[in-house]
Parts: sequence; structure tokens; C-alpha cells
Amino acid sequence: MTTDVLDLEGRSVLVTGAGQGVGRQVALDAAAHGARVAVNDFHLSRARATADEIVALGGNARAYACDVTDFDAVRSMVESAASDLGSIDVLVNNAGNAGPSIESLDAPLPFWETAPEQWEPWIRTNFYGVLHASRAVLPDMVKSEHGRIISVISDAGRVGEPHLAVYGGAKAGVAGFSRGLAKAVGRFNITVNCVSLSAIMTPAVADALSNPEFAQRALRAYPIRRFGQPADPSRLILFLASAAGEWITGQTYPVNGGYAISS
Ligand SMILES: NC(=O)c1ccc[n+]([C@@H]2O[C@H](COP(=O)([O-])OP(=O)(O)OC[C@H]3O[C@@H](n4cnc5c(N)ncnc54)[C@H](O)[C@@H]3O)[C@@H](O)[C@H]2O)c1
Repeated sequence: MTTDVLDLEGRSVLVTGAGQGVGRQVALDAAAHGARVAVNDFHLSRARATADEIVALGGNARAYACDVTDFDAVRSMVESAASDLGSIDVLVNNAGNAGPSIESLDAPLPFWETAPEQWEPWIRTNFYGVLHASRAVLPDMVKSEHGRIISVISDAGRVGEPHLAVYGGAKAGVAGFSRGLAKAVGRFNITVNCVSLSAIMTPAVADALSNPEFAQRALRAYPIRRFGQPADPSRLILFLASAAGEWITGQTYPVNGGYAISS
């Protein structure tokens, strides 16, 4: 009998956007707790780097390049992962931010000066990406009457950020989608939850957070006076993925150093 409360032995875990940042850490940690890990990223080189790291540490992982905004590509990735590693038991919807291209992180304009095409990468990656991957893994989860879907959202979607209104809208949409889906699939022992983050030190935000003046100002909003590290959310994601989380569904859990505290 294992004493590991986060045990994932025998489980297949798909992590989207796992080539760096939070997703990479979740993939590493899931493998360390015994999971077979499907490492997805838009960039094959990044997915491979994470999968190679896991294998070098003695774990089981395979890399899959695909864009989560492309449903057909997601569906065929899920089919390949199921045949390579076993059908997906745990989906971590982590790919997000402005999508795979840093170019789409335009200097923030007020919403009323933006054009609809500028909203697309945010909505497609953060909202449709979650729908696509969830839709692709669910038939097997329903069949096996077991599953976990955990989506990484943002406090921009819970409390609002003035320059991230569209992103926040997409993330809040994921929380709403997850609540409805949790009710639809609970009878199959499938749980659906969100983990909501504030500033985590990842390549996406490293530049901004390494500016000392900006960092000092930003940290005033954090009762725990440091920015998050990928391991902070990863531990909660693993808890929700493991048997320990089996009676938790339809919820959003902030991991944010106290950035936004509410009842
Ligand atoms: N870092 C933060 O401060 C922060 C704060 C709040 C929420 N989040 C959320 O946490 C998650 C992880 O963020 P991060 O900072 O680790 O990200 P990151 O940008 O550092 O890494 C994300 C990875 O996802 C991949 N990706 C992006 N779009 C993709 C797509 N369409 N298909 C497949 N792969 C894609 C990228 O190639 C990249 O390797 C995201 O959902 C983000 O919105 C992050």
C-alpha cells in the first residue's frame, strides 16, 4: 500500500502547454508521483525537452506537439496519447496566456481601442483550448467512469485586471464551463475543477517581474511577499488529480499568495 497521498501510479495524465512554466512543473510532478505523462506544447522542442527531462529522471513521458485551438489536432493527439500511454485519466488544461506566440502579447491597449481580431488568441487559447481538450478526453473518461479535469485559470478572471479584460473573460468562462461540466459528469466519477493563479515566475512573465521597481510595487498586493513558483500551483493540481481529491468538484481554488482574499 502506498503512503503517497498524491499517488498517480497507473494513471495517464495529459498536460497542455507543458513545455515550460507551470505546465512543465505539473508534468514533472505527476511523473514523480507515478503517472504516465503526455506532454503537450505548441512547440515540439519544448514538449520534447520536458518529456526528456522526465525520462532522464526515470519517469514515463511522451511529447506531443499540437495547438489546443485546433480541435482536430487535439483529438488526434488524444488518440495517439491513449494508444501510447493508455486512455487519459487526468487532463490538466494549462496552455494559456496569449497563446504560443509572444508577438500576440501586444502592448496593452485600453479595451475600447482594440479590434476583435486582437481578442482571438486570448479567447481561442484560454477558452476554446479547454473545450477542445475536455471534449476529446471525456468519452473515454465516461466509459471508464473515472476522470479528472483541472483547468488553470487566472485571478484576472476572478477579480479583474484592467489591461487583461478579454483574457479575464476567457478564464472566467472556463470557471463557468467547469461548474456546468462538473454537474454533467459527476455521476461518472469525473471531477472538474479550476486552479486560479496570480503572478507566478514563469518565462511568460519573467521579464515584467524581474524589473525591480515593478516587482516591488506589485508585491504590495501579496500578503505572502513573494511571487509564486510553478511548484505552488502544481501541488494543488496534483492533489485534485489524485484520489485525495475525489469528492471535490465544480470548484475554483486560488493559489495566489493572498493576492485576492474573499469569503
Ligand atoms: N505565470 C503567471 O503569472 C500566470 C498567472 C495567472 C494565470 N496563469 C495561467 O497559467 C497557465 C500557465 O502559464 P505559464 O505562465 O506557465 O505559461 P507560459 O506562457 O510560460 O507557458 C505556456 C506554454 O503553453 C504553450 N502554449 C501556448 N498556447 C498554446 C496552444 N495554443 N497550444 C499548445 N500549447 C500552447 C506555450 O508554447 C508555452 O510553452 C496559463 O493558462 C496562464 O494563463 C499564469
